[in-house]
Amino acid sequence: MAINLRGQSVLALDNFTPDQLRFLLDMARDLKAAKRSGFEQPRLNGKNIALIFEKDSTRTRSGFEVAAHDQGAHVTFMGPSGSHIGQSETIKDTARVLGRMFDAIEFRGFAQADVETLAQYSGVPVYNGLTDDTHPTQILADFMTMREFTHKTLSDIRFAFMGDGRNNMARSLAVGAAKMGMDLVIGSPPSLRPEAAFITHIDDIARTTGGTVRFEADARQAVSGVDFIYTDVWLSMGEDAARWGERIELLKPFQVNAALMAATGNPVTKFLHCLPSFHNTDTVIGADMAKRFGITAMEVTDEVFESPASIIFDQAENRMHTIKAILVATLA
Ligand code: CP
Ligand code: NVA
Repeated sequence: MAINLRGQSVLALDNFTPDQLRFLLDMARDLKAAKRSGFEQPRLNGKNIALIFEKDSTRTRSGFEVAAHDQGAHVTFMGPSGSHIGQSETIKDTARVLGRMFDAIEFRGFAQADVETLAQYSGVPVYNGLTDDTHPTQILADFMTMREFTHKTLSDIRFAFMGDGRNNMARSLAVGAAKMGMDLVIGSPPSLRPEAAFITHIDDIARTTGGTVRFEADARQAVSGVDFIYTDVWLSMGEDAARWGERIELLKPFQVNAALMAATGNPVTKFLHCLPSFHNTDTVIGADMAKRFGITAMEVTDEVFESPASIIFDQAENRMHTIKAILVATLA
């Protein structure tokens, strides 16, 4: 059956079939090649896209802005302040206003319910640019990058996510891996595993595709034989900064360092990270952690971050190409 995503929102990967996800990944690959060769065709001339960011962003914002610009669309950025959203106007009212002016809306914020309300009441496609629950556009970039750095098909890939097994990245990688029939091991302490209902949901998806998602408390076991190791910050945006100490204690054994890369037993394992990352003390938070807890890196060491195994900047670039595929597929 022909795949047609026109008019569709991207709120979570759960709403997409494996074929639809492959369609978006193929389109992103083609759009990347077209841009590189100088033959990209703008297919979104005259479209207007609202970009709402309740949380900070470098990649997602830039990805949407550049992708829209390349395709001839205009964007309007609304940051954490400067509009009425949340303070003096409800999401439901905002949705109905923006839906009268814009052809699509991107939303980064806290509650998944908010992005769903926007989609329900705006009448235009809404794209989830990260919520506390999920980060679907990131996963497309991750899988695109995996495809670029291995000859394996996605369903033959085995990878590990190390860190907070309950956060938005772990959850979305789990859904994505299950959808694409991949083998994912989430290396995480038992206290940072998602609730049973979520695990059952993932297992139900994986059963239909031949994928597996399992949780492993031993970091070295988690990475054994994997093609990719993926990690993310130990405390996500919006979480209480008072939890840093507790999180560092819990997640220290899951740090991606040279010893953990070697524990894969695979000399060509590649390193992925959605970014931003605390791999040195050159950020405000990194310096503060060094002062308070005596550590110079958190989820990944600078050595691994800067190593040839690290493909994080290809991954970051692919945010733009995959976001562009979403815009073209849903709006052109
Ligand atoms: N990975 C990611 O979403 O990055 P930003 O927070 O910079 O958008
Ligand atoms: N888990 C991180 C992902 C950032 C892209 C956060 O939500 O802050």
